[in-house]
Amino acid sequence: MIVRFAIVAVLLGTIACEKPAPAPPPFQPGATVKQVMAEVLEPAADTYWDAVGSVSDKDGTHEHAPSTDEEWAAIRRAGTVIMESGNLLMMPGRARDNDKWMALAKDLVATGRKAREAAEARDKQKVFDAGAEVYQSCTNCHAVYPVTVPAEAAAASPAASPAVSSPAPAPVRASKPAP
Ligand code: HEC
Repeated sequence: MIVRFAIVAVLLGTIACEKPAPAPPPFQPGATVKQVMAEVLEPAADTYWDAVGSVSDKDGTHEHAPSTDEEWAAIRRAGTVIMESGNLLMMPGRARDNDKWMALAKDLVATGRKAREAAEARDKQKVFDAGAEVYQSCTNCHAVYPVTVPAEAAAASPAASPAVSSPAPAPVRASKPAP
């Protein structure tokens, strides 16, 4: 009897040990963090930041905001891309660590979600405010994980473009480190 229990115990032990490790998630990250930034996140953020604000030129200051269904949809899509980019950054292969990086990427999901909701509500003020919060998410992460700006971008003269008032005036193309 005791022997039989012992055998069962050994067998169970063996089964427990041979249980395969859970398969890793089937993610297939194709773009580097740099590419996600330059080709996914930055274009969407630019679209979002350009949506609402004012531009001053020689004829004065002009307020602008989306007016058509299609314009609002474009802003909403940009919000969706910003939000989901936070998840892209958390994927194995892109996450730089399991700690601060994750918190900062989650923060981008949260501010991106607000951005999307503001566009869905077609609320100009909320879009402006959410744009500023998104910008903060970008700068918070770049403060911890620095970005090196390519030489040609740093050399480009910001004086050539009209003065733009939006939550994040030309964050990366300006002659300073990226947000
Ligand atoms: C979780 C961290 C994190 C967040 C959030 C984040 N970035 Fe980045 N970003 C990085 C890192 C790290 C790099 C440098 C990547 C490299 O050079 O390998 C980078 C680089 C960049 C670059 C330079 C790309 C290039 O071609 O060299 C741009 C532009 C950029 N980010 C824009 C943004 C914008 C806009 C946001 C917010 C909407 C944002 N980032 C949010 C981590 C982040």
